[in-house]
Amino acid sequence: MADSRPESDSQSRVSTSGKQRSWPFTILLSTLLPVVAAMVVYQLDSFDPAPLPLGQQQPLVVSLRNDRMLQGAELLGAGELQGPEDIAYDSTSNLIYTGCKDGWIKRVRLNDSAVENWVNTYGRPLGLALGHNNELIVADAYKGLLKISRDGEVELLTDEADGQKFKLTDGVDVADDGLIYFTDASYKYSLHEDIWDIMEGRPHGRFLSFDPITLKTRVLVSELYFANGVAVSPTQDYAIFCETVMRRCRKYYIKGNKQGQVEKFIDNLPGFPDNIKYDGDGHYWIALVSATSVPLDIALKYPFIRKAMIVMQKYTGRLHMEENAGVLAVDLEGKPVAHYYDRKLSMITSGTKIGNRLYCGSVVHPRILSLDLDQYPARATGGSK
Ligand SMILES: *[C@@H]1O[C@H](CO)[C@@H](O)[C@H](O)[C@H]1NC(C)=O
Repeated sequence: MADSRPESDSQSRVSTSGKQRSWPFTILLSTLLPVVAAMVVYQLDSFDPAPLPLGQQQPLVVSLRNDRMLQGAELLGAGELQGPEDIAYDSTSNLIYTGCKDGWIKRVRLNDSAVENWVNTYGRPLGLALGHNNELIVADAYKGLLKISRDGEVELLTDEADGQKFKLTDGVDVADDGLIYFTDASYKYSLHEDIWDIMEGRPHGRFLSFDPITLKTRVLVSELYFANGVAVSPTQDYAIFCETVMRRCRKYYIKGNKQGQVEKFIDNLPGFPDNIKYDGDGHYWIALVSATSVPLDIALKYPFIRKAMIVMQKYTGRLHMEENAGVLAVDLEGKPVAHYYDRKLSMITSGTKIGNRLYCGSVVHPRILSLDLDQYPARATGGSK
């Protein structure tokens, strides 16, 4: 419209009186028709998003930053790994395990970056954690919670709780006592519909546990807004889970006099959290699939904008608004310590620190990003953007 208007104005000035009358009508019609059509489509669409209980949003200050984390980053398994969402590190063999889009759990040797197909779940492996008998525990978006033995045997541990099937199992960690803590982001929408869950703004997520002795699945916390990554604390007294849509992580007390209670761990993250990993050295690393942005903030605030976006994307395909993705390191108290990100990064879904390197998975991109933290540290940047 912006391009055509000046032209039509100049034309109408030189045209005959008859044509002059038809121009405004044509403009009116060409403007109104799409608007009316959009309104009709919007009204007819049954998608009904809800307001989110967002509350006051104070921007969180992180004093140490590396806002160009792509500089100096190495790409691991480029082209061989499709959407390596999460990473589990096996220190005895110096291997990492990662779950890919095509259902393969692949192994990457860290000494020479050799990639090997290990086991295919025929689902979509997301969150990974090593168990105590050398087994790999997998949160598979389509299958549920899986256990894969060292010789590659796949066993379904659980795929429902309280009569409700999991539709998007995505985060997992294993406590020292063998109990498995995991999340199901939604009992309503599955992985390929994740944006619908986020845009609907209703809490379909659950935080759960699975006991490998009794085989019992327990719902520990329900009504979560896209429950995501899980990390058990080093002292084993609580587990942290992320709520992507609410930009926060919460802690659930496993034992002690607060057992069963849920408390704030960190609110107002500078972006939308996915997996959270403990590094064995005083810090949790929270992957942020995107930083906050004005369009995302507005969408989350106003349900009708989310509805318009969902209606629109039926015609345009999934909207990609993610930018400035990265990883936030926080201490044991949930205080932010360092933020690594890059304007050109999107959909970073995990950050695992191994030695002095940070390995970042992504649910969409075809590689793992690896950064030497000694060589490219986060710094007190003061005036920098
Ligand atoms: C990496 O480790 C594997 C297994 O230990 C070994 O076979 C291979 O030769 C090593 N590669 C390099 C480049 O060190």
